[in-house]
Amino acid sequence: METQSGLEQRVSAPRYCLLRELGRGTYGVVYEAKSRKSGANVAVKKLRCDAPENVELALQEFWALSSLEKRHENVVHLEECVLQRNGLAQKISHGNKRSKQYLRLVETSLKGERVLSSPDEPCYLWFVMEFCEGGDLNHFILSRSPDPQTNKSFMLQLTNAVAFLHQNNIVHRDLKPDNILISHASGSPVLKVADFGLSKVCAGSRNDAEGKEREDNHKNVNLNKCWLSSACGSDFYMAPEVWEGHYTAKADIFAMGIIIWAMLERITFIDAETKRELLGTYVRQAGGIVPVGEALLENPKMVLTTEQDGPSRLRLKIVTPPLPCPGG
Ligand SMILES: Nc1ncnc2c1ncn2[C@@H]1O[C@H](COP(=O)(O)OP(=O)(O)OP(=O)(O)O)[C@@H](O)[C@H]1O
Ligand SMILES: [Mg+2]
Repeated sequence: METQSGLEQRVSAPRYCLLRELGRGTYGVVYEAKSRKSGANVAVKKLRCDAPENVELALQEFWALSSLEKRHENVVHLEECVLQRNGLAQKISHGNKRSKQYLRLVETSLKGERVLSSPDEPCYLWFVMEFCEGGDLNHFILSRSPDPQTNKSFMLQLTNAVAFLHQNNIVHRDLKPDNILISHASGSPVLKVADFGLSKVCAGSRNDAEGKEREDNHKNVNLNKCWLSSACGSDFYMAPEVWEGHYTAKADIFAMGIIIWAMLERITFIDAETKRELLGTYVRQAGGIVPVGEALLENPKMVLTTEQDGPSRLRLKIVTPPLPCPGG
């Protein structure tokens, strides 16, 4: 059994006590837990690191959150990340080349083949984060009556969070109300951007003393020139260029616009899978609804307006100008 430099601890003396399940995503489960040492409540996200695609998502989340040198009050704080395997737990840190386990995780993701765990001895990454007890933005907004003050404050908080991430070269790529959580720890509601599983850290490069090119996350990177192509995100919040597969950090700004618009006007749709009511804008077309980004891709000159629909809620009406005649 591999042990390394006293960094590993037996899992038989766990430092957190799991209290309840908070949410379950495609690749992991999130629990509310209590730190045995401080007594503080935390959220822990457990990701199974067997298949390379799971490892890739886990590492993307880890790299984004651990690349942040400063804390921002509107970005969920990662307290630590622990790798669990063979009954041992090891805290991992960004680029820790002393840790064979960490290097194997990177190898699993890069090679696209299972090198770390077998089905009999699963390996997990645990993300210990600050706990946001107020639920997500959908729940928070839709369970209360409209409040312009809260809307204004959330708009500011969300834009601050995205500006901070972009200043730190992080493109989130999955901004949506489900991934925006609320904390009441300081009294008034504080919004926290979470779920960095699809995020991308756009690193620059610099030459080191020997003239070799090295990756450097802290170099000033022009994020608008960092082109991405993976189809990422959730339909209703995806910019037209994401649908096309050639986009930059501006895709986060589009998603943010959709979220803010939906929040201000309380525009919702029902998610087909979960049947939950979610905040998000869309276009009505041929009796169905189409995400705004997808509709804009087909018709970039589309005019968007809102109209009163029902006594208390504003609904979005999209006026689609006729497409130009062929040859015209
Ligand atoms: N720090 C936190 N505090 C409180 N609840 C949290 C926290 N992090 C996550 N959750 C809950 O767990 C859910 C899933 O978390 P997250 O979005 O990070 O995981 P995921 O596996 O990517 O899920 P999905 O694929 O569905 O987006 C969140 O929607 C939220 O309800
Ligand atoms: Mg999520």
